[in-house]
Amino acid sequence: MTHRPRRLRSHRAIRDLVAETHLAPGQFILPVFVKEGIDSPRPIASLPGVMQHTVESLRDVVVEAVAAGLGGVMVFGVPTTRDPEASQCDDPSSILHRGVSAAVEAAAGNLVITADLCLDEFTSHGHCGVLDESGAVDNDRTLVRYQSMAVSLAEVGAHMLGLSGMMDGQVAAVRAGLDEAGHTDTAVLAYSAKYASAFYGPFRDAVESTLEGDRASYQQDPRNRLEARREVHLDLDEGADIVMVKPALSYLDVISDAAAVSTVPVAAYVVSGETAMIEWAGEQGILEREAAIDEALTSVRRAGASIVCTYWALDYARRHHPSNPAKTSNPTENGRPR
Ligand code: PBG
Repeated sequence: MTHRPRRLRSHRAIRDLVAETHLAPGQFILPVFVKEGIDSPRPIASLPGVMQHTVESLRDVVVEAVAAGLGGVMVFGVPTTRDPEASQCDDPSSILHRGVSAAVEAAAGNLVITADLCLDEFTSHGHCGVLDESGAVDNDRTLVRYQSMAVSLAEVGAHMLGLSGMMDGQVAAVRAGLDEAGHTDTAVLAYSAKYASAFYGPFRDAVESTLEGDRASYQQDPRNRLEARREVHLDLDEGADIVMVKPALSYLDVISDAAAVSTVPVAAYVVSGETAMIEWAGEQGILEREAAIDEALTSVRRAGASIVCTYWALDYARRHHPSNPAKTSNPTENGRPR
């Protein structure tokens, strides 16, 4: 026999030598939730291991993320009041803005702090944009809100904005708004191919979403692959700094397409439902939790994503890189003394 592929699988050292895909905490972005009006962190019932944070407990997570060598965190806000026009989306005293500014301070330059840029957490109807008279999401009026939200988040120090609303033209609009206000260095992470997915279930608990109905008129149809390429091309043309595919695990083909055409880094978001499935199955003893997590994260990188947004970022780092001397943190050095 000339070809014996098993030869390269015969012992661990040789398997490690020929392994094609590697995961590093520095490529992970940890999504975090900061909630208004609570005085201690609260677990999210449907998403094991993930919490709604206070501004103070968010600081602690950020300090831990620095110590673990993560690439960044992505902040989502959970406000106590909402209205149809998402009035608080550009209010520097909103819970999102306060969370972002605390995260920036706690990270002291050692992490990329991304702020979610979308109206859904601030609208009483739960849609990602404002509505027109007929009740449909008004794309162009929403873009104006996004521009104002973008500038306000840049002003509280966000390094990058995660454009998760799936409005047409959102990258160009936000880029223009930022540049006009002098925020030319604030980066845009475009959720280029974001699908209308059932896997967002636990996230809606996490942000206490009030959405009735669905987002099918703006998020992508799961049956389509070609339009994801179109969305990626449009976002590249509009100036996206990073393009993202979401969800990840049911969309590995889409990640692979994005990686083939993109001229900027490709990210993928392992979403709440994808995380919860493995967590609950692990809890039931149906599968081996940690091996399943590592395999899932590996598949996303193998498909072509260089950056992975995952609720498991710290879990992975703690298990595989227990001490990371490359990045050490002293929370009192640059942060506010506590
Ligand atoms: C909405 C938003 C969603 C998620 C991130 N941003 C939910 C949605 O589109 O309904 C989902 C993230 C997750 O499920 O982990 N701006």
